[in-house]
Parts: sequence; structure tokens; C-alpha cells
Amino acid sequence: MENNIILPRHVAVIMDGNGRWAKKRGLPRTFGHKVGTENVRKIVKYCSKKGIQYLTVYAFSTENFKRPEEEVGTLMKLLVEYFNKETEELRQNGVRLNVIGDISAFSPIVQKAINDGIKKTKDCKDLVFTIALAYGARAELVRAVKMICNDNVKDITEETISKYLYTFDMPDPDLIIRTSGEQRLSNYLLYQAAYSEFYFTDCLWPDFDEREFDKALEEYSKRNRRFGGV
Ligand code: FPP
Repeated sequence: MENNIILPRHVAVIMDGNGRWAKKRGLPRTFGHKVGTENVRKIVKYCSKKGIQYLTVYAFSTENFKRPEEEVGTLMKLLVEYFNKETEELRQNGVRLNVIGDISAFSPIVQKAINDGIKKTKDCKDLVFTIALAYGARAELVRAVKMICNDNVKDITEETISKYLYTFDMPDPDLIIRTSGEQRLSNYLLYQAAYSEFYFTDCLWPDFDEREFDKALEEYSKRNRRFGGV
């Protein structure tokens, strides 16, 4: 890959295709999520190595609560394992864990694992790794509007809204990647994606390795971002 590639500061990912990856192999969907979680580890490491400053992944949407109980249970278990097992290594590698979404509907065990991970990595400065959990962009906007009303804000600007989103302390995503051939946002970062570049690939999330990530970065580096100018 070229060395003078322009790196996105913030990459957001819709990690799609775990279920299909497993089905293709005659395995249960939950196995796809397990391998998908291993891939999260790999991609976080790679982003750290490349010097990407913000990585945000969509791990559980507000709509995902509708999935079969067993699948939701597996996802929760994988999350707890991830936070419990990975936090120390992430901390040593300068990765700050962050969560966006309303995790109050998660069980106390899951909430504790998440909050412990956030607390232990709070001073890390190299990569902010954000996991969207029980997240939906419309719910995020409703929450922001309610808080703005409660705070009685008079002069509401675009920046005011940004400040009331879960993502108040990070730049908007430069690049949004969606794996598995689907080409939609699925209620992900709607306000923040106003000027994001999109990269869609047929590759399923468990197969989306460092080489595939590099392809997305190369494609991004060729785009001409004008932000509405000429
Ligand atoms: C989409 O694939 C994937 C999800 C809904 C869950 C993604 C979650 C993980 C990879 C685990 C999260 C772990 C951490 C630590 C962040 P799908 O099941 O909708 O796939 P399909 O469209 O092929 O059915």
C-alpha cells in the first residue's frame, strides 16, 4: 500500500454478515458472532498500529433486542468476555474504551463489565474505541432534543445538537464502512454522517481482515472531499 495515503481520523464500521458467515459453513449464527468478536480484536489492533484516532463499531442496535433470546444472550456474553479479557491489553496499548447508546436495558453484569472497562482505560490517548450498544440514531436525536429542552437552551445551532449527542467529544466519522453487501445506514450515526465517505464491501465481517481494511483506506484516500464546496 502507498505510504502517503491520507488516513481518516475517525472510521465507523457496521459489522454486518456474522450470521451469513456461519450459515455458509453450516454453523449456528452465534458462532458467527464469536468469530466476529475475534475480528473486532484484530481490527482494533490494526487501527492502533496505523494511527487511526477514532474507531466506532455498531455492535448492538436498539432493534437487535428483537432477535431470538439465545442470540441476544450470546452477544451479551461475548461483550462481557471482551470487556473482562481485553481491557488490560487495550489499556497498555493506549486504547480508550467508550460506549454510545442506552445500556440501561442491559443486565447489571453486562453494565458493570462495560463501565469497568471504560473506567480502567479513561486516561488512554492513542485510539478511542467506541462500541455502539443499544444504539439507534433516531433515539439519540430524541434524547438530544429532550436534553436541549430541559436545559432551556435558547440559541440552538448545529453545534448545539452535536454537543448533545453521545458523540459530543469526537469528530464526525470521515469514513463509514459496511460489510456484507448491504448498502444502508440502519439508523447508525445519522446526524454525524452528513459528510462521511461510504465504503461498501461484499466481504462478511468475520473475513474483513487487515487487507480488506487497507482496501477501504486506499479507496478513502482517493476520494475528493469537498464538504459542499467546489
Ligand atoms: C451483524 O451481523 C452483526 C451484529 C448484529 C452483531 C455484531 C456484534 C459483534 C461482532 C460482537 C460485538 C463484540 C464486540 C466486542 C464489539 P448479522 O448477525 O446481522 O449477520 P447477517 O446479516 O449475516 O445475519
